[in-house]
Amino acid sequence: MNLWRKKSLDQLIQFSQGKSGLKKTLGAYDLTLLGIGAIIGTGIFVLTGIAAAEHAGPALMLSFIVAGLACGFAALAYAEFAALCPVSGSAYTYSYTTLGEFVAWLIGWALVLEYGLASSTVAIGWSAYFVKLIEGLGFNLPAALTSPPAAGGVINLPAIIICLLVTTLLSLGIRESAKVNNVMVAIKLTVVALFIGVGVWYVKPANWVPFMPFGISGIWSGAAIVFFAYIGFDAVSTAAEEVKNPQRDLPIGIIASLAICTVLYIIVSAIMTGIVPYSQFAGVSAPVALAMQVAGQNWVAGLVSIGAISGITTVLLVMMFGQTRVFYAMSRDGLLPPLFSKIHPKHATPFISTWITGITVAVISGFVPIQVVAEMVNLGTLSAFVMVSLGVVLLRYQRPDLQRPFRCPGVPYTPLLAIVFCTFLMFSLPYTTWMLFLKWMGLGVIIYFGYGYRHSLLAQPSSNPQGTNTEK
Ligand code: ALA
Repeated sequence: MNLWRKKSLDQLIQFSQGKSGLKKTLGAYDLTLLGIGAIIGTGIFVLTGIAAAEHAGPALMLSFIVAGLACGFAALAYAEFAALCPVSGSAYTYSYTTLGEFVAWLIGWALVLEYGLASSTVAIGWSAYFVKLIEGLGFNLPAALTSPPAAGGVINLPAIIICLLVTTLLSLGIRESAKVNNVMVAIKLTVVALFIGVGVWYVKPANWVPFMPFGISGIWSGAAIVFFAYIGFDAVSTAAEEVKNPQRDLPIGIIASLAICTVLYIIVSAIMTGIVPYSQFAGVSAPVALAMQVAGQNWVAGLVSIGAISGITTVLLVMMFGQTRVFYAMSRDGLLPPLFSKIHPKHATPFISTWITGITVAVISGFVPIQVVAEMVNLGTLSAFVMVSLGVVLLRYQRPDLQRPFRCPGVPYTPLLAIVFCTFLMFSLPYTTWMLFLKWMGLGVIIYFGYGYRHSLLAQPSSNPQGTNTEK
């Protein structure tokens, strides 16, 4: 058994300089907006309320700083890898070259939690805001059609519809998707700026006292939840093969999108908890809008809902996009059936894989009430961050000779800090989430031994380890 077989990094680099089946159309600006598109969404618009009320209190801003640091250190590691081997698959591909096939498979499998499951969660969040907005306009959708069976309904139809719309867009092409993304990102950034510009005048410093009602541990458990708000900057790296000048543009896209969002999150959380006493956020699903209502600015509250809807749509767009590209990379390596890497002759997208992903995400979001999933998503993502950071350190020792277009500063300390922060956050998540996560990974191990181990390109004697599969 050879579980540690590795892909040749040299072949990967060579491959990334050659022709892949995907079109190279994105620049640094598109990537930064793609990153912001993936980052600002359910986390800030929905989860901040729970984090403030039940975990961190006004110290929520410190939770955002802690989670932001964990992501910042990891982002530098991602940037080094992404610039070095700009091929689809992100953390999965990086682990394949440094830690071997089995670990890579596990990371790829964990990424399904990050991108796939996050998409379902985000679609459900979208549906909730949509229903709210429709109600605000005086229309009422029957409850049976807006919630899943376990929540007293029949089907969450808006969630299904938005998933299918996003899938259609994604299957038509990356350029088209990036255009829609850019417009929607502009809307959500405007709304966030409006919130800050209006909200800052209504902050009452008395609401920040007591500052840490749940102590230091509350800050950490709050950080483990709001970590969700940062997920997405790494999705930029999944677009690697569609970037015009990846060595320069990928690090810019990853780091700039994360930096912009971190600053916005810290300001927004400080303003929110400065307007509304933290305990009043208990059970509130639209905390940002609530802050504007408390400030007496109902018109801004309405605009916040529109911003949340467009913001969450782009998260869905980029998360689903990321999922299809990870499947694409895994299938190209033989670990998943060839179907997942088949490229559409006209649209140059992994058409079938996009639809399989879209329909699966739609079904889950339509019928399953997902409560612990945000935590599951976090656990899956944190494990990928740890592996990528570890991979950067290992590769510096294994291959010091490589030309690195972007060098993560402070190696090994920066990646080690990422590992320490991410591991701490992982252990701040509940036991039940861990159990579910371990079951998911167990299923992954079964699939690997049932299919991937034998079909892997590295198991075929005369294979090109990075061949593209563009058969029609
Ligand atoms: N960061 C993304 C969000 O908050 C996943 O919705």
